[in-house]
Amino acid sequence: MRIYDEKVNHLENPIGFAMDETVFSWKVSEAKGQRQKAARVVVARDVSLSDVIVDTGWTADADSLGFSVSVPLSPRFRYYWNVSVRDDAGDEATGDVQFFETGKRDEPWNAKWITCDNANPRHPYFTRTINIKKPVSTTRLYICGLGLYEAEINGARVGDEYFTPYCNDYDKWVQAQTFDMTSLIQKAGGSAEISVLLGNGWYKSRYGYDALEEKGYYGDEWKLIAEIRITYEDGSVEIIGTDETWQVERSNITYSGIYDGERVDDTLKAEATVNAEACEPPKGKLEDRRSLPVRVQQELKPIELIHTPAGELVFDIGQEITGIFELRVDVPRGQQVHIQTGEILQGGNFYRDNLRTAKSEYIYISDGRPAVIRPKFTFYGYRYVKVEGAPDLKPEDFTALAMWSDIKDTGSIVTGHKLLNKFISNVRWGGRDNFLDIPTDCPQRDERMGWTGDAQVFTNTATYMSDTYAFYSKFLYDMGREQEDNKGAVPVVIPSAGHNDIVSVWGDAACIMPWNLYVLYGDKSILRQQYDSMKTWVEYVRAVDGDDHGWRKTLQLGDWLALDYPAAFDPERCMGGTDEGFIASVYYAASAEIVSKAAAVLGYTEDAENYKELSERIFNDVGHDYYTPGGRCAVDTQTGLVLTLKYHLSCDEEWTKARLRHLFECNDNKLRTGFVGTPLLCNVLTEYGMEDIAWKLLLNEDYPGWLREVKLGATTVWERWNSLDDDGKITGTSMNSMNHYAYGSVVEWIYRHVAGLNFTEAAVGCRKAVVEPLVNKDLQYADTTYDSPAGLWRSRWEYLDDSHVKINVTVPFGCSATLVLPGDGKGTQELVAGKYEFIIGGCASSAHEI
Ligand code: BGC
Repeated sequence: MRIYDEKVNHLENPIGFAMDETVFSWKVSEAKGQRQKAARVVVARDVSLSDVIVDTGWTADADSLGFSVSVPLSPRFRYYWNVSVRDDAGDEATGDVQFFETGKRDEPWNAKWITCDNANPRHPYFTRTINIKKPVSTTRLYICGLGLYEAEINGARVGDEYFTPYCNDYDKWVQAQTFDMTSLIQKAGGSAEISVLLGNGWYKSRYGYDALEEKGYYGDEWKLIAEIRITYEDGSVEIIGTDETWQVERSNITYSGIYDGERVDDTLKAEATVNAEACEPPKGKLEDRRSLPVRVQQELKPIELIHTPAGELVFDIGQEITGIFELRVDVPRGQQVHIQTGEILQGGNFYRDNLRTAKSEYIYISDGRPAVIRPKFTFYGYRYVKVEGAPDLKPEDFTALAMWSDIKDTGSIVTGHKLLNKFISNVRWGGRDNFLDIPTDCPQRDERMGWTGDAQVFTNTATYMSDTYAFYSKFLYDMGREQEDNKGAVPVVIPSAGHNDIVSVWGDAACIMPWNLYVLYGDKSILRQQYDSMKTWVEYVRAVDGDDHGWRKTLQLGDWLALDYPAAFDPERCMGGTDEGFIASVYYAASAEIVSKAAAVLGYTEDAENYKELSERIFNDVGHDYYTPGGRCAVDTQTGLVLTLKYHLSCDEEWTKARLRHLFECNDNKLRTGFVGTPLLCNVLTEYGMEDIAWKLLLNEDYPGWLREVKLGATTVWERWNSLDDDGKITGTSMNSMNHYAYGSVVEWIYRHVAGLNFTEAAVGCRKAVVEPLVNKDLQYADTTYDSPAGLWRSRWEYLDDSHVKINVTVPFGCSATLVLPGDGKGTQELVAGKYEFIIGGCASSAHEI
C-alpha cells in the first residue's frame, strides 16, 4: 500500500496559510484490499512525532477526502503529522511525515506599517541591514507590501512567488505571507541587507471595469509591514520589524500597472536615501494568506522572429500565455526599447486593438550596458511581442515566462482526433492563463477580473483538469467577504473594485461553485466555509424578487453572447434570445435547492426544509408562468429547452426532447447558445439520449463551433463564436478576447461522457462513477485519466477495427463503478477497485481484470 497526496486544507506542507480548521486528506494506491477500513492521524510538535498533540487513534470516521481534526493552533508554529491507513484486507501503511506551519494568526505584529513620499513615481525600496551575530537556526519573514512587493536578502530573491500579496478586496482584508529565509540568512554571513521593492498592482494602479484614470481603486499609498524573526542556535530570538529606522531608496521603475505594463529608466541617478515614515494601516484587516503561490511555471522560446510587412520585429511564441518575459538587449545609452504584446496578427502585422485601453507594454531606457529586461509588477496575456528600439535581436534573446497559481494538473485526455486534441490543449492553456491568483475572464485587455459567471461555468472542467480546491476556496472566501455589507448581493466580479452589478447566473456562482467543489471533492469544509455566503445570496434574491418576481425584472445578462437574438433588431445586444427573466428565476430556484442540499449535508435540518420549499415554490412559479399545462415551453430556444430538461420543468419531457432536436435540425445541427446554454448543452443532450447531437456540435468545424477556432489557429479559447471571421479577420474590438475559458466548459462533457468518468452527487468525492463511455469512430480512441480526490481513474477506449472496441477502466482504491458497455448488447458490470479490460463487438464480448 502506498499513501500519497497527503494534504491539509488541500495544501501540501503549507506555510503561513489561514487555517480556519485543519482538514486532512490523502490518497491510497497499490493496496491489497478494496477500501479503507480505518485510518489514524497523528499531529505532533516534532518531526519524529514523539511530542504528540493529537492522536485520533484508528477510526473508521477518518474520511480520506476530508478528515477534520481539531488541533489547538498557536501562531508561527510548525506542526508535523502523518496518516496511517488500514484496508479491508488487513494491509496497512503509514505515510511520510508532513507538516503545516501557521502564520501570525491573530497575534499582534512587532512591526509598524511604513511608507515613503508617494508623489515620487520611482518605486521605493525599503531597506534594513541586519547584523547576524551568532549561528542561525531558523529565520522567518512575515510580510505584506502594497500594492505588490518583492523581497531580497543581499540581492537574492526571497522565495519564488510573484504578485504577492495577491488580489482580493483590500478594503476587507489584506494577505500576509510567511517565508522561510533560513538559508538566505545563513548564507548572508555577518551582515544581511533586506530590501523590499514595492509596485502598484491591483491595489494601487488602475484596476476595474471602468478604470480609465491612472489611480488605484483601493489605495494610493505604498505601504509595507514586515517582521523578521531570527532564531539562533543558542535558542535566542531576534525580532526585526519595520519602523522609521528603515531606509527608503528609489528604484529605476518609474511606473507599473496591471493593464499598462511597466517603465524602467536605467539612466536615472540614485537619489539620496531617506528614512521611512510610519503610516496608517490599510483599510482591510491583515490576515494570513489564502492565495496560492503564483510562480513561473513554464518557459517558452519563440517559434519565430517575424519581420512583418509593416516592418515590425515581432516574436511569436506559438502559444498564448499569461505571464512576463525576459529580453536580452544591448543598445546605446538613452535608447528607448518599447515592447508591446498582442494575441493575434492581422494582415501579418502586429495587432493589439482588442486590448482596448490596456497599454500592455514595457518601456525601457538603457544606460548603455547590456541588460536582461524582465517586468516585475505586471503581467501580459500574449502570444506575439513587438519590440521597437532594439533592431539586432535574435530569437534566442527572448524567453516567455508563463505564470499561473500553483495548481497541479489532475486530468488528461488524448484522442485520435487532432483538432479535438488541440482544442483540449487550448482549454487547458485557457485555464492556466486565467488562473493567475483569481479566476479571470481574460488575461490581456483592460478587465482581467474575477467574473463570477465565467468562473461558475468553468468550475467542473477546471476541476477535472487540475486540483482547484484551494484556489477556488480563496476566491469564494473573498466573495463571502464582499457580501458582508452588501445584503448578501454578489457582485458580477470578485473582487468587485467598485463594479457592483448584481445578476443571476453570475451571482449564483455563490451557490453553484461550492456545491460543485463539494460534489467532486467530497469535503464538506467548503460548504461550512461558504454556507453563509450561499444562504445570504439566496436571501438577497428573495428580497429583490418580493411578491411579484421582481428579480426577473432587474437588468440581467441572460444567455450572454448567444447567437439567437434577431440581429436585425439590435446587432449590439449581447444577452441572446432566451428570456432573461426565465433564466433568472430558474437559477434562483436552483440556488435555493443547492442551499437546501448544503444545509442537509451540514445537518441544518430546518434550513434544509425551508430552502427546499422556497426552491419548489419558485420552480412551480416558473412552471406556471412559462409552460402550458401540456408542457410546452414559452422560451423556445436551445438554451430554454436545455434548462427545461436539466431542471425537469416540463411535464412532457418527450415532447421537450423532440422539440429540442427539432430546433437543432432546423439550425443545421449547430448551436446558438451563450454562457448559460453552452456549458450545459452536451451534458443535457447526452443525459436525454441525444448524444448524436452533442457529437455533431463538438466535432463541427464550421461556424459556430469549438473546432472552427482551432482551424483558424487558436491556441486558447475565444470569447465569441465569431471572434475572427473565416479569413482570420477580427470581427470587432469592443469585447473580443482570444482567451476566455467560458466556452471551454464543454471539456467537462468529454470527461463525464466521452470518457465516462461521470461522478454523481450520490457518491461525492468521485467515489463512484457510472462509466458509460461514448465511443466514436471519428476519434478512434480516447484515453482519459483523472487523479481525482479519491484516486486515479482511467478510461480508455479504442476501435480495434470497424466492429471491435477495446475498453480499459481503472477504478481507484475505495471506489466502485457501474460500467455500461457501449453497443446494442449494452450490459452493465459492477466494478470494484482494480484494472479491467473489455473487448466488445463482433458476436462475442470478453471481459477480464488485468
Ligand atoms: C467579460 C465576460 C463577462 C461579461 C459579462 C465581459 O466584459 O469579459 O466574460 O462575463 O463581460 O458582462
